[in-house]
Amino acid sequence: MGQQFGRRSWAEPWKIKMVEPLHMTDRPTRDRAMKDAGYNTFLLRSADVYIDLLTDSGTSAMSDRQWAGMMVGDEAYAGSENFYHLEHAIQTYYGYKYIVPTHQGRGAENLISRTEIKPGQYVPGNMYFTTTRLHQEMAGGIFVDVIVDEAHNPIDRSPFKGNVDLDKLENLRKEHGSDKIAYVSLAATVNMAGGQPVSMANAKALRAWGDKHGIKIYLDATRAIENAYFIQEREEGYADKSIAEILREFCAYTDGAWMSAKKDSLVNIGGWVAVNNWETFEELRNLVVVFEGLHTYGGLAGRDMEAMAIGTAESVKDDHIRARIGQVRYLARRVGHPDDGAHRRPRDLPRRAPLLSAAQAGRLPGADARRAALSRQRDPFNGTRHRERRAQREDRRPLSSQARTHAPHHSASRLHAGAHGRRRRVGEGRLRTPRVGEGAQDGVRAQVPAVLPSEV
Ligand SMILES: Cc1ncc(COP(=O)(O)O)c(C=O)c1O
Repeated sequence: MGQQFGRRSWAEPWKIKMVEPLHMTDRPTRDRAMKDAGYNTFLLRSADVYIDLLTDSGTSAMSDRQWAGMMVGDEAYAGSENFYHLEHAIQTYYGYKYIVPTHQGRGAENLISRTEIKPGQYVPGNMYFTTTRLHQEMAGGIFVDVIVDEAHNPIDRSPFKGNVDLDKLENLRKEHGSDKIAYVSLAATVNMAGGQPVSMANAKALRAWGDKHGIKIYLDATRAIENAYFIQEREEGYADKSIAEILREFCAYTDGAWMSAKKDSLVNIGGWVAVNNWETFEELRNLVVVFEGLHTYGGLAGRDMEAMAIGTAESVKDDHIRARIGQVRYLARRVGHPDDGAHRRPRDLPRRAPLLSAAQAGRLPGADARRAALSRQRDPFNGTRHRERRAQREDRRPLSSQARTHAPHHSASRLHAGAHGRRRRVGEGRLRTPRVGEGAQDGVRAQVPAVLPSEV
């Protein structure tokens, strides 16, 4: 498996004692499944996928301790014991004072956006995640991208391409005034950039800026442990600090966070929002009852909260996160892609690995799934997500209006509608077959599979 940076190998710190039998598909079956799904991986049946690289979201295998925790679910409507275990875990590892559980990350985004954004306020962020930005816009906010320019260049090798550009941020504040900024929306790592990290120095500088102008910093902590790993690896002064220590310090520069626990925290479902301010917590606690459930279960079963509490503690172990990122790097290197982000999306693969022919790509395991992922990049949900990116780069109009302009039959809510709605459209023949070359740099690119899609 190889050494990493002359230190430990990324050998997994666990052994397997349970397996899930897989259906062994053949090429014609996979081709047929892809055609039936309109070449949209979100519409595939999982039984038709042998190696599933769609996302890390909710797909982790849980540990024996997490499964044991599922057996001690306290399903009382109010005051479940498991909630207190979860609260304790988040306070211990992330350091926030007040915690509200939610069914998953977007539930938490809804609550924090409604609580902290006044209509017409700006929400600067280091790029955006789709549901995050949509919730901010639905609360009346206006998203502004303030990530460093390097993030938009996939071949740039800077170590912290997730950083906020403080000049862009300050210009926004000067132009509109501090009162017009709801908060800074800081994602660590940055999903849309393929998992690029934010440095501790950047978080520290942001905190100082926020204190000076009375503006809060909220963290999308979905992959903050990955982020801590990159700080340990790349930032001076952190090599000898544990992941847990780095995570605590990073979070201490923020006023609160929301979390999709389906990633770093190793559960199949769950999320939370946490803050340090009591009044904000009171608002969140009132709102969660409307959208998710009582504040001590937030749309989750007690057993789910227990698994999340245990997963949180297990996820901050250095060996665990080294193995997690090591596995991604191993795969990336096998397809000729150098290191960069944590879950990566090498959109420039042909430029970096010109010798990787379509034939070679076809022999790689899961190539069908990845090729389909590329078509999703080009034509996701009838092309909407590709256009979202273009909106971000070019005209920066709100995601919701962008979707409406380009795809009149896709309202903002339909953008994230369930698979059944979209599946019906396939039957109706309304899903456009992806066109080779659309959104691609050249003909080669169109034939090379995308690796590790990371939009969910
Ligand atoms: C960075 C990031 N934030 C938020 C979310 C939303 O979380 P969830 O899918 O749990 O609703 C995701 C999910 O994919 C994500 O990757």
